[in-house]
Amino acid sequence: MIKMALLSIEGLSKSFGALQVLNNLSFEVEQGSVFGFIGKNGSGKTTTMKIIVGLLKAQSGSVHISGVPVKYGETKTNHMIGYLPDVPEYYGFFNAIEYLRLVGQIANMSPAKIKSQTSELLELVGLQDSAKRKIRGYSRGMKQRLGIAQALIHEPTLLICDEPTSALDPQGRSDLLGLLELVRQRTTVLLSTHILTDVERVCDAVGVLDGGKLALYGKLDELKAAHRRDTIVIEMESAAAAQRLAQPLLGLPFVQQVGGGGNTLTIDVHNVTANGRDVLAFLSEQDSTVRAYHVLEPSLESLYLDVIA
Ligand SMILES: Nc1ncnc2c1ncn2[C@@H]1O[C@H](COP(=O)(O)OP(=O)(O)OP(=O)(O)O)[C@@H](O)[C@H]1O
Ligand SMILES: [Mg+2]
Repeated sequence: MIKMALLSIEGLSKSFGALQVLNNLSFEVEQGSVFGFIGKNGSGKTTTMKIIVGLLKAQSGSVHISGVPVKYGETKTNHMIGYLPDVPEYYGFFNAIEYLRLVGQIANMSPAKIKSQTSELLELVGLQDSAKRKIRGYSRGMKQRLGIAQALIHEPTLLICDEPTSALDPQGRSDLLGLLELVRQRTTVLLSTHILTDVERVCDAVGVLDGGKLALYGKLDELKAAHRRDTIVIEMESAAAAQRLAQPLLGLPFVQQVGGGGNTLTIDVHNVTANGRDVLAFLSEQDSTVRAYHVLEPSLESLYLDVIA
């Protein structure tokens, strides 16, 4: 199945005075995807997100959501977008139900729809028990949860989250990532964050913003495969077996280096595709049991550090 681009950004440039933040930025986010938008402080992630929601005007380029162009200051595309800003602000004297009602009214929803969405979303984000407490007494994590509910109330096709986990403790972060995993069934997500392990957990595609454009862009598994190193990791049945095999492995013509620890061997070969089965064949001749075999994948962190100057 060919997936349609839900969000399409083309040739976007944006300067603040003499400072050029975006320089001919282009990328697409597929429908149903959770896209990790990463980059150094000040690289322009929030700027890009604000342009997508029509809060900032770009000097040139275009943004389309489901084929509909985004125009600065216009709200035509905003019914398709849910936005969780980096610093969500609330009227503290409202409780969650009252606040969501206001947001739903602004989005022109019917009272019945607001009611059903409110109860469903409060349950989804785990705030049903605090729904009648004033927001002013909420913790930061609770405010983030309410932010997600607020962003989803009008059933947007694109959810934009600007560093939603930055203020959260590890439990809150894990909860929020779990929420995003749930939410992805109903909406496409554009997520900016500095926490690369979060991206590895929930995102299927990434873009690294650097110098105003994407320095790395694509599906996470494809990027990892493309930047794969020729290293095989093998788990033997025991540390003794691994130790015994290290030296003989090193004697094979296609093996460059052998490392590891415990019952694990990490073997650098010339070409992992061709030599992987050679290594396995050799090990089986040695009368040893291989418990696990995999090709070492680069982490997102190492990919990121490779492209960021
Ligand atoms: N309204 C503004 N006026 C002038 N400069 C701005 C404005 N908004 C952003 N900038 C500048 O544009 C650059 C990009 O900012 P932006 O907030 O988009 O970065 P970011 O990638 O979201 O960073 P962070 O990771 O710190 O959130 C920064 O140098 C910032 O100072
Ligand atoms: Mg930002």
